Amino acid sequence: MFQQTSKIVEMENIDWGKLPFGYLKTDFNVRSVFKNDAWCQLEVSDSEYIPVHIAATGLHYGQEAFEGMKAYRGKDGKVRLFRWIENAKRFQHSAKGVFMAEVPLELFHEAIVKAVKLNKRFIPPYGTGAALYIRPLLFGSGAEVGVKPASEYTFIVFVSPVGPYFKEGFNPVKIAVIRDSDRAAPLGTGTFKVGGNYAASMRGIAKAHNSGCGGPMYLNAKDKLYVDEIGSANFFAIINNTYTTPKSESILQSITNMSLIQLADDIGIKTERRPIAVDELESFEEVGACGTAAIITPIGEINDTEKNKVYRYCKDGKPGPISVKLYNTLVGIQYGYVPDKYGWTEIIELN
Ligand SMILES: Cc1ncc(COP(=O)(O)O)c(C=O)c1O
Repeated sequence: MFQQTSKIVEMENIDWGKLPFGYLKTDFNVRSVFKNDAWCQLEVSDSEYIPVHIAATGLHYGQEAFEGMKAYRGKDGKVRLFRWIENAKRFQHSAKGVFMAEVPLELFHEAIVKAVKLNKRFIPPYGTGAALYIRPLLFGSGAEVGVKPASEYTFIVFVSPVGPYFKEGFNPVKIAVIRDSDRAAPLGTGTFKVGGNYAASMRGIAKAHNSGCGGPMYLNAKDKLYVDEIGSANFFAIINNTYTTPKSESILQSITNMSLIQLADDIGIKTERRPIAVDELESFEEVGACGTAAIITPIGEINDTEKNKVYRYCKDGKPGPISVKLYNTLVGIQYGYVPDKYGWTEIIELN
C-alpha cells in the first residue's frame, strides 16, 4: 500500500563530517507488537512506513513515547552503546506515565542491537563527529474512540547516522529565555519522553530561532522563576567550582547529565541538584546544555528579551575549562579511548 519514497542510500554520497542531526534512510528497522497481553517476536522490516489504524490512540490521544541514544564507532574500530539500560528504564517510565504497555528490558536490548547490526554500514567512521542515532518508539496502535489506553501497542526501533545537534558543535551557542509558552506543566508529563512535550516545545523553539538563537530555555511553568531545560537538553552551570543542575519535577532526567555529575565528582568538583533561579544566571562561570544529541554544548549567551537582559559567558569565544574537561572525558568513554571504569559502555559484536 505504501510506496518507499526515499532512494537507497549510496554510501559514497554520505559526507560523514557534514551530517546534520536529521533523518537518513537506512536499510532496516525492527518492530514488535503488544497484543493479547504479550509482546510478539521482533520482526525486521525494510519499509519506512507503518500501517496505522485510523482510531489508534497514539494518533488521537498522544499515547506515544520515544528514546534517543547513539552507537559510537571508536578509535579502536569497535562499536559501543552508552548506558543503554538507562534508556530502557526511562522508556518504561515514559510508557507507564501515559498508560502504555512497557517494553521489557531484554526486548529493548535485542531490538537496539539488531537495528544497529542490520545497519552497520551506516555507523559513521571514527573522527567525523558523527554517530549512529538509535530511535526506539512506542505508541498505542489499538483503536479507541473514548479517551482510554489502547489494548495494542507497537514498538519500533530505527536508526539514522547523525552529526551534531547544534550546528556550532562544541562551540558556544545563543539561547533565548521563553516566557510565553511552556514545555510541560508542573504536575504534567515533563519527566516522560512523550511526543506531547515536544509538540508543546515547538512554539518556544520557533521563537528562539526567529530571534537568532540556537534554542530555547524553558522556565518552570508555575512562576517562571527557575530554569527548567534547554530545548531537548538539560541545563548545567558551574559556580564556585560546583557543577549545578536544576532540580525540577517537569524536566527529563538526562542520562548525559547523570553521567556528567559522576564525572565531575571524579575530578573533584562538587555537584548539586537544586532549583536554579533565573536571577542567578548572572553569577555563573560556565553554562551549558547536555544530552545525547547535544553532548555538551557550551552556552555563550542567554537572551531574556522580556526582562531586557543578556547574560554572556565564554568571553573569549571558547568553552570554559570544566566544560572542556567533562566533554573530553565523556566523549572519550563513548568512543573508547578513556577507561570506562563504571562499565557504562557495551561493545556490539557486529559479526
Ligand atoms: C527534553 C529533553 N531533556 C533532556 C534530554 C537529554 O537526555 P539524555 O542525556 O538522556 O539524552 C533530552 C534528550 O533525550 C530531551 O529530549
